[in-house]
Amino acid sequence: MDAESTYIQMKEKLGNLIPDFEIRAKAEIAAEINRLKREKNAVILGHNYMEPALFYSVPDHVGDSLELSRTAAQTDKDIIVFCGVRFMAETAKILSPEKTVLLPAKKGGCSLAASITADDVRELKSRFPGVPVVTYINTYADVKAEVDICCTSSNASAVVESFGSDTVIFLPDEYLAQNVARETGKHIIFPTRTAKTDSNVDYQLIGWHGRCEVHEKFTVEDIENARRQFPDVMVLAHPECPPDVVEASDYSGSTTAMVKFVKDSGSERFLVLTECSMGDNIAAENPDKEMVRMCSIRCPHMNEITMEETRDALLYTQYKIEIPEEIRLKAKKSVERMLAIGAKGERD
Ligand code: 13P
Ligand code: SF4
Repeated sequence: MDAESTYIQMKEKLGNLIPDFEIRAKAEIAAEINRLKREKNAVILGHNYMEPALFYSVPDHVGDSLELSRTAAQTDKDIIVFCGVRFMAETAKILSPEKTVLLPAKKGGCSLAASITADDVRELKSRFPGVPVVTYINTYADVKAEVDICCTSSNASAVVESFGSDTVIFLPDEYLAQNVARETGKHIIFPTRTAKTDSNVDYQLIGWHGRCEVHEKFTVEDIENARRQFPDVMVLAHPECPPDVVEASDYSGSTTAMVKFVKDSGSERFLVLTECSMGDNIAAENPDKEMVRMCSIRCPHMNEITMEETRDALLYTQYKIEIPEEIRLKAKKSVERMLAIGAKGERD
């Protein structure tokens, strides 16, 4: 598709959100990316947080962490360009080692992934021997290599319940752990580095003090203020938000679950407590619905991924994800166990 046809397609989707001159400029880059993608036999995966112009022009598949992991495991293309953050691109490499996996950002970090190391997990395992260990997918490969299973926001409770065990170590997001504890009826302790193991404590989730630097900032006061101004607003919160925020919301789920909720809901106005670009993407898809914007809180890591960087990733084959084979093989087991469990509701 040439730049003019790309522009027409983007204009149809984004004409009410983005000024025309910007759509034109982005359509030029999108057409170049799509040409390079064909030439190099690449697939582009785009997380739901990508900015609207990128989200609606270059990815072959969009979705949440679980959906994109599955797609990465199944692609027959030579190159996977992952428009998301590093831990997501790493998961793609874990599942498809023979592919070249590219992250269109030098760092593409995540405060949750940065909150825990493989040594931390080894230490926890030695303090709580025999206790199953679950880690959120927002961690690096060496951490995944140390655990029994991963989970995403789509299946965290199902993964915890899959053990049939009284006690589970759940890492590293303390808010997700608390939200899972509430959903599963378990309760949670946070061991300090110096605390001794007490085998008589009837804890059920052993957590870690990691937080998403975006979702931790939303407050119940934000929700109350929004409801005061827009009494009909439906509030949706990602489960990385603090538990009181999730409780004060009308719905909580993974990024894709929230996208689907808005699409299927009969309500007219929504506030989505997550990275702001996703609200824009939902607005573009649902012109009949109002999205209340709360855009002062952004994910700096997801926002490193731009159309220019995505084009350069394909042009210069950068930035390649590499994982030592020994770590990859161990991490793969944790990811594959998670994929076998699926998303919430899939087995219903
Ligand atoms: P999802 O798996 O719900 O897409 O979440 C990923 C993420 O990083 C949210 O901040
Ligand atoms: Fe990590 Fe939070 Fe950014 Fe998601 S939004 S990538 S959890 S820092």
